Amino acid sequence: MASAAAAVPEVALRSGSGNARPMPAIGMGTASSPLVPETTRDAVLAALEVGFRHFDTASLYGSERPLGEAVAEAVQRGLLAAREEVFITSKLWSMQCHPRLVLPSLLKSLRNMQLEYVDLYLIHMPISLKPGPTVFPAKREDAMPFDFEGVWREMEECHRLGLAKAIGVSNFTTKHLDKILAAATVPPAVNQVELNPVWQQRKLRACCAEKDIHVVAHSPLGGLKWSGSEGNAVLKSEVLAEIAKARGKSIAQVALRWIYEQGVSPIVKSFNKERLKQNVEIFDWELTKDDHIKIGQIPQKVVNTANGMFSPEGEFTSVDLSDMEFFEE
Ligand code: A2P
Repeated sequence: MASAAAAVPEVALRSGSGNARPMPAIGMGTASSPLVPETTRDAVLAALEVGFRHFDTASLYGSERPLGEAVAEAVQRGLLAAREEVFITSKLWSMQCHPRLVLPSLLKSLRNMQLEYVDLYLIHMPISLKPGPTVFPAKREDAMPFDFEGVWREMEECHRLGLAKAIGVSNFTTKHLDKILAAATVPPAVNQVELNPVWQQRKLRACCAEKDIHVVAHSPLGGLKWSGSEGNAVLKSEVLAEIAKARGKSIAQVALRWIYEQGVSPIVKSFNKERLKQNVEIFDWELTKDDHIKIGQIPQKVVNTANGMFSPEGEFTSVDLSDMEFFEE
């Protein structure tokens, strides 16, 4: 449905060489647990039908392959004229956060998706783990010091080769961003972080605005139940429910619209066609000043912490947990 797709605004990203495609202001998340490839592929096709043109995956999620299959099928069916119509992000997982593993990891992701390039490639977390098969949650003793300079140099190489039209980071605090910026020739275009009305990231947003880094919001509705967390503080918010009622919208739409009005682009996960449709219908109405004041007063609570990525047993032997923590007040 070209008309729905055309209704989504786009954001120009800083890419270093100026050839990055603008990013549609809302994206579909593809992380789900457990991952069922057919369900994921069908959900991406459903998302394309209702107007999503921006998809977020990661080597960690296992959704690269079904996402690539869905895009290929959409092109074949004529739902998309060409692959260039979609904006695709993937991410470098922590076990591959070592300079020599960056380029091979992107090449593997591209093979998984049957693509020649990604629109955006992100360092998934400011955490480096001993190379090896992915284990989640990770072992504490596998955490290693992060070579920010070496890893970023290789991210820049991916960009220089045209395999990643833009490069960026995810779950980085202002402290981690400073380390990348000190090493960067091509500064990160994006920082994708947990951000929603219940975790508003004011300090990080101000820092990114100053440094021309576009902020993308994961977990815009409170996220999945990673690490046993509740993950529903957004959808159960009474403040948002009241605003939703007054505007004749759903709570999810109010949360997504609020994020958009902050200049941030949400990545929202739903595999349900009705909810997908609802989530993309946030661009032809506005919140009021009063709504913003009320949302600004919501008590803040983060869901994802570095500790939640690791199993409780074992010790951090070569790093301090505080160096890896990816949230800040
Ligand atoms: P479902 O996939 O069953 O639609 P986040 O994007 O913050 O990670 O949140 C994802 C969670 O929110 C998923 O469990 C998803 O469930 C649910 N969700 C997504 N869109 C909506 C919506 N419009 N209304 C209610 N729940 C939604």
